[in-house]
Amino acid sequence: MRALCWHGKGDVRVDTVPDPKIQHPRDAIIKITACAICGSDLHLFDGYQPTMERGDILGHENMGEVIELGPEVTNLRIGDRVVVPFTISCGQCWFCTKGLFSACERTNPNAAMAIKAMGHSPAGLFGFSRMLGGYSGGQAEYLRVPMADVGPIKIPDSVTDEQALFLSDIFPTGYMAAENAQIEDGDTVAIWGCGPVGQFAIRSALMMGAGHVIAIDEVPERLAMAEAGGAETINFAKADVYEELMTRTERRGPDSCIDAVGCEAAGHGAADAVLDKVKAATFLATDRVHVLRQAIMCCRMGGTLSIPGVYVGMGDKIPLGALMNKGLTVKTGQTHVQAYTRPLLAKIVAGQIDPSFVVTHPASLEDAPELYQKFRDKEDGVIKVVLRPGTAT
Ligand SMILES: NC(=O)c1ccc[n+]([C@@H]2O[C@H](COP(=O)([O-])OP(=O)(O)OC[C@H]3O[C@@H](n4cnc5c(N)ncnc54)[C@H](O)[C@@H]3O)[C@@H](O)[C@H]2O)c1
Ligand SMILES: [Zn+2]
Ligand SMILES: [Zn+2]
Repeated sequence: MRALCWHGKGDVRVDTVPDPKIQHPRDAIIKITACAICGSDLHLFDGYQPTMERGDILGHENMGEVIELGPEVTNLRIGDRVVVPFTISCGQCWFCTKGLFSACERTNPNAAMAIKAMGHSPAGLFGFSRMLGGYSGGQAEYLRVPMADVGPIKIPDSVTDEQALFLSDIFPTGYMAAENAQIEDGDTVAIWGCGPVGQFAIRSALMMGAGHVIAIDEVPERLAMAEAGGAETINFAKADVYEELMTRTERRGPDSCIDAVGCEAAGHGAADAVLDKVKAATFLATDRVHVLRQAIMCCRMGGTLSIPGVYVGMGDKIPLGALMNKGLTVKTGQTHVQAYTRPLLAKIVAGQIDPSFVVTHPASLEDAPELYQKFRDKEDGVIKVVLRPGTAT
């Protein structure tokens, strides 16, 4: 089959590789009809995520048609159209039974590597490094789905691929980010990053009763999409974010701050951001924590910090004094996708949200390497790429 493979920093290629096979009675094989490139894939593309190996197949936002089933998967049928959560979860362990699916303790065969780096191991993830399971991703013609009796959900014919696909990750991720922000009616919520995750966080925060959502980015078309979704905006390249947020909140600060940027924050010459870049480039630190610092400084006393943005290792100069003295609550995590797929599908079916608004670039799998570069560099107005394997460019 054709598949998008990682070959090193800044180097992804569509290669011909062996088709996946059923390896376990709870596996399914799906023929991918649509998959997407995520901001998290950029951390792999840019060489931030450790334990990637040449030839690893990327892609964790996947949907398709079931073509083969292991004997223990009795809730799916050949021909079903399904969306697959990016988290691989057993559904039975201590964490899964509590709904903490991204903490599943049974799906990372390389848990020892993760325990060394983080103290404990998260669930295995599709297409996301050896340390997080070494599972092949779905930017490919076919995908092996482990624990297929738990993760994939059937999509009704009335919902299109582009409406359903983001149940695999960014819609639940934006939604959980807003839940983690502990929003009360009328609250002001500041959201850093108007990428796809930020876009879903904006719409979710408003659904949860936020009075004002203030979205921060520098890319004009992303700011415009945030405004179309009901947010006010700040262009961080043109304004002092702290001053602007204080002016708009009677100097109290936003009730909740959401970091939907993560470890590759841009800093536009701010001293801390320059230092981060040097440290990251020389392996003295792995994460660029400019946004996290700013969110801690801006959040109101006793407010909540929600961090869906991905961090991979060590961050430097995090203002712990401010965090502690201001009494902030911090909530974060890889999304517990399986907890959100069904309720959020119900919202799509009911017409409360149409997630396809975020798609700017439908394309073929063969175009993926070029689109990785354009998505990273924010060229051509790329906000979200949806790939359809098997179609012509
Ligand atoms: N927690 C999870 O389970 C989960 C799931 C999916 C994605 N993510 C993470 O969420 C983050 C966002 O993902 P995405 O797909 O939207 O990525 P993206 O790269 O498209 O978006 C990031 C946005 O942040 C903006 N940005 C950069 N520096 C900034 C700054 N200083 N202030 C404000 N904005 C700034 C960029 O211009 C860009 O628009 C990534 O870190 C991704 O890995 C987490
Ligand atoms: Zn993702
Ligand atoms: Zn589990």
